Amino acid sequence: MTSTNSTRLTVLATGGTIAGIAGSAIAKDYRAGEIGIDDYLEKVGGLGLGAELSGRQIANIDSADMGPGVWNPLHAAIAEAMADDGCRGIIVTHGTDTLEETAFLLDLTLAADKPVVVVGAMRPADAVGYDGLRNFANAVRVASDPDAAGRGVLVVMGDRVFAARDVRKVRTRGTEAFRGFPRESIGLVTPASLEWFGAPWRQGRAAAFRWTTDLPEVVIVYAHAGLDAASVRRQIGDATRGIVVAGLGEGNMPEAVRTALVEQARNGVAVVRASRTDEGLVDREPEDRDNGFIAARALNPQKARVLLQLLLADGISDPAAIQQKFDRR
Ligand code: SIN
Repeated sequence: MTSTNSTRLTVLATGGTIAGIAGSAIAKDYRAGEIGIDDYLEKVGGLGLGAELSGRQIANIDSADMGPGVWNPLHAAIAEAMADDGCRGIIVTHGTDTLEETAFLLDLTLAADKPVVVVGAMRPADAVGYDGLRNFANAVRVASDPDAAGRGVLVVMGDRVFAARDVRKVRTRGTEAFRGFPRESIGLVTPASLEWFGAPWRQGRAAAFRWTTDLPEVVIVYAHAGLDAASVRRQIGDATRGIVVAGLGEGNMPEAVRTALVEQARNGVAVVRASRTDEGLVDREPEDRDNGFIAARALNPQKARVLLQLLLADGISDPAAIQQKFDRR
């Protein structure tokens, strides 16, 4: 435990490059999720961060393996820390590859009473120019700020603060790998300063969805030139309750695929049109109503999948009711 005078924060570690080791300061290859939380907190102990950090290891994995098996204990640990009167805020360390999905899932299923900050790094801990220490120091700054409460789950990367709903990984390398869409960052942070841009956008502090350990199967169909209906059908099984199309442009798809998906929608499978394009809205088209389709609006396919899973788990399967939830910002 890193001790000081003041703010007590809970740090929940899940692995990723922030806890990664290369074995050399200049190596390209490394192993994510190698450093344990106790060693990590010892490492940051010398930084004088002005917070008392108490750590817990939830997992130590490459976030490519993130899913319900880790989400369940992570969610429970956050709920416990939220209920602890002595805890001011929560930091989750996470691999950057699926960080946006975890952050959005938590955002939709947690109350916003205390700051919850998800943070990662693009370079392993023994690399020259390791960004994890600065990102972590920034996360401490954000999680300690009373104004961070009420904003929902936040992501801190590259001196910026993002809302979980907006954040997306847009680069495979470099420390400026995250962006926000449709809002860019909602704050600028350094270990010594924090600037918020505007009021919280989140409506209310209550969790939008109950937590469930049983998320229904939702597949993502990636549209491309030449995609045919047969290969789409091969992705869909008996257990599939929802399909998100990573569509062309504004959620478009080849005609044969559209016909196959209309058939799925008529059989009660929820079909969401998102875009494989990095940024841009997918608006509702007049035919969506007849087709039984839902437009993902500003959510990218992987986030649309998270929202759809929670809606279906809550028993909401009517396309119009699902659309209303996608429309809500
Ligand atoms: C991971 O997502 O666990 C590996 C990549 C990273 O953290 O940047």
